[in-house]
Amino acid sequence: MLRTTLLAASRSPRSRAIVQQLPPTRALVQRFVAGERLDEAVAVTDELVGAGRRITLDHLGEDTRDAAQAADTAAAYEQLLAALKETGLAERAEVSVKLSAVGQFLPQDGGKVALDNARRICEAAADAGTTVTLDMEDHTTTDSTLDIARELRADFPWLGVVLQAYLRRTEADCADFSGPGSRVRLCKGAYQEPASVAYQGKHEVDRSYVRCLKVLMAGEGYPMIASHDPRMIRIGGQIAEWEGRKHDSFEYQMLYGIRPEEQQRIVETGATMRVYLPYGGEWYGYFMRRLAERPANLAFFLRALATRS
Ligand code: FDA
Repeated sequence: MLRTTLLAASRSPRSRAIVQQLPPTRALVQRFVAGERLDEAVAVTDELVGAGRRITLDHLGEDTRDAAQAADTAAAYEQLLAALKETGLAERAEVSVKLSAVGQFLPQDGGKVALDNARRICEAAADAGTTVTLDMEDHTTTDSTLDIARELRADFPWLGVVLQAYLRRTEADCADFSGPGSRVRLCKGAYQEPASVAYQGKHEVDRSYVRCLKVLMAGEGYPMIASHDPRMIRIGGQIAEWEGRKHDSFEYQMLYGIRPEEQQRIVETGATMRVYLPYGGEWYGYFMRRLAERPANLAFFLRALATRS
């Protein structure tokens, strides 16, 4: 119920206006977001790379209905990739892109605009010597996102995609995307989805996550275990071992600010640990999904609010 309310609020302009003005918001946002500016994102990337992490940077933004804003987002990624190249961080840092931030939802030719903007970003990544992964949004976008991914992979075979284990279709999508060179980031899924398309209970989602991981680990691609769940991490490591995978043939991923001590432990095992690092001014939707995932985050937020008021 609480999760449903928070996820509905994550898409409400009215809630956005209220939450963004609350005094304690900024302090909590800083736990999950590197900063609003590019130089802040590069500084945090540098620090985390120094601590043995790989990074995937997300220039925050989603759901744009404005072609100029979509083009600005693509330009922001080009600047980011140029900065990663210049600072020598591109070897350890890639980028993650939400297609709805680069035009997927535009009323006219949204798919084509998103494809063209994503292609610009992939070209800049190729020039910097790094990779791009396409984030996955709600289930109404899955087919369009995977179609765009297939098209881009013809020119940029290293392009990664996110698949969400809570969707009933995902085990089959994992099989489709488990060929040679295919990079798949497997997460549980962060949006409010109907039972017709998505498993609803944690156990069902976890079981699907394990089935999907088995498909990816048995395939010829590069699986990315994106989860903070200790069970998924343990089982993922076991399946990789059964499949005879070496440390350089799969990786673990977590969100910035979540379970940093576990991130460190994984680094110390010699495995690859990549941190998803968002930055930029459009943090509202991302922040609300993080509150929805964990009631303790919301309790912390409300306590801070009560203390300040
Ligand atoms: P689960 O939710 O069961 O949490 C397990 C444990 O992790 C919790 O008990 C808690 O300790 C910790 N934890 C989890 N979330 C937390 C939080 N917000 N704050 C503090 N602790 C928390 N989703 C999506 O739909 N599309 C996408 O493109 C992506 N991309 C993506 C990239 C990466 C690198 C990651 C790690 C995750 C995503 N996600 C995503 C989000 C994902 O779908 C999911 O919502 C969260 O990762 C939470 O699920 P867990 O697997 O961590 O398990």
